[in-house]
Parts: sequence; C-alpha cells; structure tokens
Amino acid sequence: MDNATVVASGTKIADEIGTGRSEVWRLIQQLRSLGVEVAGHPATGYQLRAVPDLLLPDLLEPLVKGTIFRPIHHYYKIGSTNTAAMEAAANGAPEGSVFLAEEQTAGRGRGANAWHSARSSGIYCSVVLRPNLPPSDALILSLAAGLGVHAVIQQLDARVNPDLKWPNDLLLDGRKFCGILTEMNAEATRVRHLVIGIGINVNQARFPEELREVATSLKAFSGTEWSRVELAAALLKSLHREYRDLLEKPNANESILRRFAEHSSYVRKRKVRVEENGGFEGVTEGLDARGFLQVRTAQGLRTVLSGTVRAI
Ligand code: BTN
Repeated sequence: MDNATVVASGTKIADEIGTGRSEVWRLIQQLRSLGVEVAGHPATGYQLRAVPDLLLPDLLEPLVKGTIFRPIHHYYKIGSTNTAAMEAAANGAPEGSVFLAEEQTAGRGRGANAWHSARSSGIYCSVVLRPNLPPSDALILSLAAGLGVHAVIQQLDARVNPDLKWPNDLLLDGRKFCGILTEMNAEATRVRHLVIGIGINVNQARFPEELREVATSLKAFSGTEWSRVELAAALLKSLHREYRDLLEKPNANESILRRFAEHSSYVRKRKVRVEENGGFEGVTEGLDARGFLQVRTAQGLRTVLSGTVRAI
C-alpha cells in the first residue's frame, strides 16, 4: 500500500477534490463502511491504514491481461452473479464478461440449493462463455472448470490438494469449499451462451449452523488468510487455459476426463448413494465419454445424469 504513513488534513483533502470538510467526512465514513481502514477524524487529519481485499476491476483487469476475461463487473451486493450474468448474456454481453460480487443475497447452487455468500470472505464469480459446442459438451466444460479451480489451489499452496466430487464440488477433508453452477441457453445442436458460476469459501472463519458439518474454507483448512484478489486473478487465468485447450486441442475431452479421475476419489470404486429417480446405491465405475458418472448397481450399470452423489 502506497503512502500508508501520510496523515492528510480534512482541509487539504477537501481542497484537492474541490469540496468541503463535511463532505470529506461523509466520504471517509462511506469508505469505512466498505472496509477501508482510515484512522483519525476532521480535527487530527486522516491516515489510510489498510485497503481491503476487494475484487475491484481496476486491480483485477491488469492481472488477467491476455485472457478472454473482460469486462469485469463488480458488485458490493447482488442477488446472484449467475442470474446477472445470464441476463446480461441474453442481452448480448460479450464472451468473457465477468460478474464478481462481494456478497450475494440469493446465491444459487445446483438444484434448488442456496449458496451461502457472506460478505467479502468468499469468491462469487460468474463468467459468460459462447462456445461453438453442442449442449451435450456442457458437462465436460463444467468438469474442466472444476479442474481449473483445482489447479489454482495447488498453484497457490501445493499443500492444499482438493478432492473433486462429481460433478462439480471441491472438498477438503470431505467438506465442501467450492461449488460450480453451470447454466446455459441452447438450441438442440448449439449453445447460445453459457454461464459458469463459481463459489469459493476463502476466508470464512465460521458457517451457519446447518453448514457447519459439511462446509469448510481455504483458511479454515490451511490456517492462513488467502488473498481473494490473487486467487480470483489466478482462477480466471486457469479457466482461460482450460477453455482454450477444450476448444483448440484435439484430445481435450479425454484429457479432462483423465485428469478429473486423477484428482477425484469419487470416480472409481466408491460406494455411493445417488439421489435421482427415487435414489439408488452402487459402486462408481468411471465417467462415460460425455463426463457422466457410471455406477454399478445390483440391477446393472447406471448413468448418473444430475443427481447428488453421496459417499456411503
Ligand atoms: C453448488 O455447489 O451447488 C453450486 C454453487 C455455485 C455458487 C456460485 S457463487 C457464484 C455464482 N452465483 C450463484 O448464484 N451461484 C454461483
């Protein structure tokens, strides 16, 4: 942080920005409410102590130069970044548009689930893509996004090695810290647009009662605070690499399926219960060519299409 030790008087700031001292006080209070630490008051002058780890476009855009990810839209509070991104995409937002929020009031998960999105402690990020792919490839793309998150976590801290739970959860010690919600608007043969929404629990110290047993955060697992700006930038770069490879490399699908299986304890030989079609149990037996999970049951091999998979 530049000039952290400078104390500036209210009069000086007011003169520089062409306003009065009371307006400066009002602006300082507003900055404080956003998490900027400013010491002092009108009589003593003000001192900037710390700027918060906010996912501001001005910070992120230079860090993700060379990727498809721009423009970046940032919200202090929003219902759901996926909803915003889907609406924007329907209204013509370009491929690569990013929607980031400090807090979601109606964060959505797969199925009818909600995504707990406490202020400035997680990453709530949705990106708009317009791939020239059939809708049947959306699952592969979604699995690739999970691999993108996995790679980033390993890159930033090699000691943290998440387990991928099909299709889109990332777990640490069996608890979930990341979920991905992929939504699309498609014709039968062509994706019009697709939104990948990623929620990562980063610095949460505690969770609501109902999540306490099943959720964790990167900080809770590793014991250290993570920079959300660094993580978000690395995440977008990693997603860019996965997306580019999927579109350009001839054997990309096979590579995604192989790497997913390598980083997942769920893909093979795992006794599971699947909440789908009344529910069934069996032992996992790999992914099919489109990325769907295969489960060996007493009645034969079944393909899990969308249900929640639970280890038993
Ligand atoms: C799941 O695990 O069920 C998926 C969770 C996806 C949550 C993210 S947070 C950013 C984006 N906006 C949403 O409303 N949901 C996704």
